[in-house]
Amino acid sequence: MAAEKILVVDDEQSMTQFLGIVLRKEGFQVTTVNSGRDALDKIRMEPFDVVISDIKMPGMDGIQLLQGIKKHDSNIPVVLMTAYASQQSAIDAVNLGAFQYLLKNAKNDEIRLAVRNALEMRRVRNENQFLKRELKKGHEEKTIIGSSEEMVRVFKMVDKVADSEATILIQGDSGTGKELIAREIHYRSRRHSGPFVSINCGAIPRDLLESNLFGHVKGSFTGAVKDSSGLFLVAEGGTFFLDEVGDMPLATQVKLLRVLQEREIIPVGGTQPIKIDCRLVAATNADLEREVAEGRFRADLFFRLNVIPLRMPALRQRRDDIPVLVDHFLKRHAKGSSPKTVSKDAMDLLLKYDWPGNVRELENVMERALILDEGGIIRPEDLPDKIRFGHSQKGSLVIDSPNMTLEELEKEYILKVLNFTRWQKKRSSELLGINASTLYRKLIGYGIEKPGRERSGGATDPDDLLYEGDEHAA
Ligand SMILES: Nc1ncnc2c1ncn2[C@@H]1O[C@H](COP(=O)(O)OP(=O)(O)OP(=O)(O)O)[C@@H](O)[C@H]1O
Ligand SMILES: [Mg+2]
Repeated sequence: MAAEKILVVDDEQSMTQFLGIVLRKEGFQVTTVNSGRDALDKIRMEPFDVVISDIKMPGMDGIQLLQGIKKHDSNIPVVLMTAYASQQSAIDAVNLGAFQYLLKNAKNDEIRLAVRNALEMRRVRNENQFLKRELKKGHEEKTIIGSSEEMVRVFKMVDKVADSEATILIQGDSGTGKELIAREIHYRSRRHSGPFVSINCGAIPRDLLESNLFGHVKGSFTGAVKDSSGLFLVAEGGTFFLDEVGDMPLATQVKLLRVLQEREIIPVGGTQPIKIDCRLVAATNADLEREVAEGRFRADLFFRLNVIPLRMPALRQRRDDIPVLVDHFLKRHAKGSSPKTVSKDAMDLLLKYDWPGNVRELENVMERALILDEGGIIRPEDLPDKIRFGHSQKGSLVIDSPNMTLEELEKEYILKVLNFTRWQKKRSSELLGINASTLYRKLIGYGIEKPGRERSGGATDPDDLLYEGDEHAA
């Protein structure tokens, strides 16, 4: 990393020299000037990480310089130096946004520490601004859509609970929008100007999860080369989103429970608890009640998290939302040009499909269709086979048909697979897990024929069934 750049300002040359020596020894890149004017000129020309300036200078004094700097870049921390602590100007300085003031006879250590603190503050501030910008960007693009009764109920619930400090547990299948709704809760809460920090408990190796959450003390384990503050502290003043909380190891669950009870964390390897101030939202696509019943999730933690339960409905339970979502995704991907439309046939297919991957799957399907489509109207052929040919999913055949005999079931299933593969018999036999001649025998046995084919004699021609259309099916 490049050395941090410090600008030292004092009308007394002996002082700039002295500070220059102290700070260069620390590895900083130091520039010195002897007036406020020169300082402002320098700052306009190149970026500095910290400015240290005397208050009392002829011409532009330290306070005026401070104001000039704030106008240019309000993120540069300014440390002001004064001969007397009681001086009114020192108090003004801090009120006007100086990071700190130092006495001119401060020890070298104090000077170094002031600069280090200023740098740390700048780093955190920059990071927060970056995060906020990213989030804002993300938030504008990722608005949550829905007008079905189920979603309206969810929105009403969010309205009611966003502003409270209560912990929320969002449950729902994969792709139903749990993370999206968690962000929505954050943006509607009074913590909206604070950070939204999220961690996926299932994606982080077990050993690292705790140190990521609670921070660690230098030397507490191999690799802990310096103190780290952990995400609970990063979320200070904002919302902490614990995603896939069902994947959290039991040992970590105990610690999380303690955090929720005491509102404080103890870093890994540390002894001193640190107070935290963040709102917790957790999400899971596992059935947490069952996890509790089966001993994989602590009951006491479950109740602590589940203060306000929020359940995201599966897309197939709110099909009314499908056209609205389709419209939303088409517009989002249009990028300036006029959005494409969906033909009635294609929309009918989208409405019938079961959407096991929920909104995420719909989003992917629309994206794919937009790539495949050339005419500006999305038609059935732009949709994946599973949507075109298998409205009800493979497995539902059995459940829907409790009165069928095994043979009837087999016949129906073979027909489904044939429709799915557009009557490509080689592929069908692969999908059915039988060889081609077995399929051939079954087709004859069940009298299965490709629809729309006129037959004069009535008898099925086996060769026709098995081979025709296999390689060049429409
Ligand atoms: N109601 C909605 N309106 C618009 N986009 C949505 C909606 N619900 C989900 N999405 C989109 O679907 C995708 C999946 O959403 P999200 O990540 O919030 O789901 P999730 O429930 O957290 O899924 P997982 O359990 O797999 O993590 C995202 O791209 C999101 O933008
Ligand atoms: Mg998620």
